Amino acid sequence: MPVLLDIATLVTGKMPRGPGHLDLVPEAAIAWQGDRIAWVGPAAELPAVFTREERHSARGGLVIPGLVDCHTHLAFGGWRADEFEARIRGESYLEIAARGGGIRSTVAQTRAASREELRRRCQAHLAGMARLGVTTIEAKSGYGLTLEHELALLELYRELREASPQRIVATLLAAHVVPPEYQDRRADYVELVTGQLVPQVGARALAQFCDVFVEEGAFSIAEARQILLAGQAHGLIPKLHADQLTSGGGAELAAEVGAASADHLECISDAGVRQMAAAGVVAVSLPFASLYLGQAPLPARRLLEAGVPVAVATDFNPGSAPSYHLPVAMTLACTMQRMTPAEVLHGATAVAARALALGGVTGSIVPGLSADFAVLEAESVNHWLYHLRENACVLTVARGQVVWRATA
Ligand code: NIG
Ligand code: FE
Repeated sequence: MPVLLDIATLVTGKMPRGPGHLDLVPEAAIAWQGDRIAWVGPAAELPAVFTREERHSARGGLVIPGLVDCHTHLAFGGWRADEFEARIRGESYLEIAARGGGIRSTVAQTRAASREELRRRCQAHLAGMARLGVTTIEAKSGYGLTLEHELALLELYRELREASPQRIVATLLAAHVVPPEYQDRRADYVELVTGQLVPQVGARALAQFCDVFVEEGAFSIAEARQILLAGQAHGLIPKLHADQLTSGGGAELAAEVGAASADHLECISDAGVRQMAAAGVVAVSLPFASLYLGQAPLPARRLLEAGVPVAVATDFNPGSAPSYHLPVAMTLACTMQRMTPAEVLHGATAVAARALALGGVTGSIVPGLSADFAVLEAESVNHWLYHLRENACVLTVARGQVVWRATA
């Protein structure tokens, strides 16, 4: 049974005193069998039976649960650096979208890319994430927007999932924007999504979640409700891109349909906060999107004080969040959202797992859960998130397998 020794401090990710308090084990050890954690505790108490086989050393590092990036748009063709400059020069995200740029530009580039090219790009992103300690990744479709292209993106995610120890969770985001071919008949597109895509995705178990971008220029509350209910009828758990650029009732809809999460929420209303708390919906904060679009961040303190669990994710996509560097997003969640390092650590592990309905599977280092963890060259969570550097992660284990080890 493999063991990890020489851990100066282990963060279990359990939250017996709430997300603001870390549960720590000093001088710890972990043993795992196959893809499951078998034992965690003080190294001095490690049963001898666990120490006979493969031994790994944390070299006096900090061990945290494998990071969970619970919101990414992993597969896309091309990039949009031109829009980065256009926004700096004063054009808004919605104006760029209205002239055919934005998501529609990536849709064109994604449709033009071969499956092989998309696979290579995703694999490179996933390898980069492994180096940062990320062991679970939610991946949305949403840049295909035809029956064939959306199914192809989800099939690609299935292939990636089967080939990698990292856990890849797929989300159908066919309702990202209305594609150009349906511009003047949006009801037909909603019908394509609810009548064909959702049933096929559900029947083939190609995704676990169904997401809708509720926004001016994207989908209305009524359309989103229709799509999410169709998803639920076919076994897909609802999620929403809500209240990002305008306050449109997305958080309230998330509460109404019992969504696993509502994401973005920079413009959430007070009623939205209350209703999400009552319904137990996780708020997913996406600090990169706020940063790149020059927006005030999501009101994390208001949400946390109301009892809403707050996760932190990258939103990795070529427009509003062109980075998969989750630890940097976590530092931004501390500084921009005024979340404490402990709240942020939980937000990118146990709470993020809950946003993916994986609460009993990953996100904390507990016997029986998936053997997903990362070793950091840092003295504490506080110091790790404070001292921003390219990468503090020296070892990443996903489902019991080493997916990254720093040399030297
Ligand atoms: O989460 N808000 C909608 N979707 C993405 C942006 C995608 C894009 O700009 O390509 C987001 O920010
Ligand atoms: Fe997004």
